[in-house]
Amino acid sequence: MTKRKLCSIALVLAATAVAATLPVPRAALGQTAATSDPTDAGKAVYKRANCVGCHKWHGNGGGGYGGDALSLRKTALTREQIVETVGCGRPATGMPFFTRGAYDTVKCHDMNRQDVGDHMPPEANTFLRPNDIDAVADYVITHIKGKGEPNHAECVGFFGDTSRVCDIYKTQDVKTRDEPATTSTAGDRKAQ
Ligand code: HEC
Repeated sequence: MTKRKLCSIALVLAATAVAATLPVPRAALGQTAATSDPTDAGKAVYKRANCVGCHKWHGNGGGGYGGDALSLRKTALTREQIVETVGCGRPATGMPFFTRGAYDTVKCHDMNRQDVGDHMPPEANTFLRPNDIDAVADYVITHIKGKGEPNHAECVGFFGDTSRVCDIYKTQDVKTRDEPATTSTAGDRKAQ
């Protein structure tokens, strides 16, 4: 190789290094600070994989076709445990597995189909890829786990502005605001 060629290679390398260290403006990535939420992908999975069907949009669960789904708001599970629970389901409960080949080509809770036997959890209607499972776990950790009672703002955030599903939370919010007056009237009435 000639000295000149080597020199131009070095130049190209140097230019690449400089480009790599330059900050990329947010606009160039098609993002705006206000609207981008890194867990949006996980929210989409939460809807698409029908976690909503059993755990409800707010994650509090309740009686559904899979039995009583535990509250994801009150869950004590870590992100890693959530990933495992979604991928492998939970043996002997209605929590389905979302990884194709779970207990088969993919070992789950260190068990295969034979080990898990009658306790085999149901198969989900949709299979999820590992990155989808990571995304939905991030969503649960960020937006559901450890949150208090669901409210109107949160509901609108989930469904979008126009959803009437959230109206019930609006009424509840109003009720809470009016509570002191209502309570005292009720109290007065009782006293009479
Ligand atoms: C068919 C109903 C059903 C669907 C769909 C479903 N779950 Fe569940 N899930 C359950 C039930 C029932 C349990 C409670 C299992 C038990 O009793 O231990 C549960 C438990 C869990 C737990 C364990 C909570 C804890 O504290 O132990 C996590 C996490 C979870 N589900 C996340 C999800 C996610 C995320 C999705 C969507 C990808 C999903 N589930 C879809 C029914 C469902």
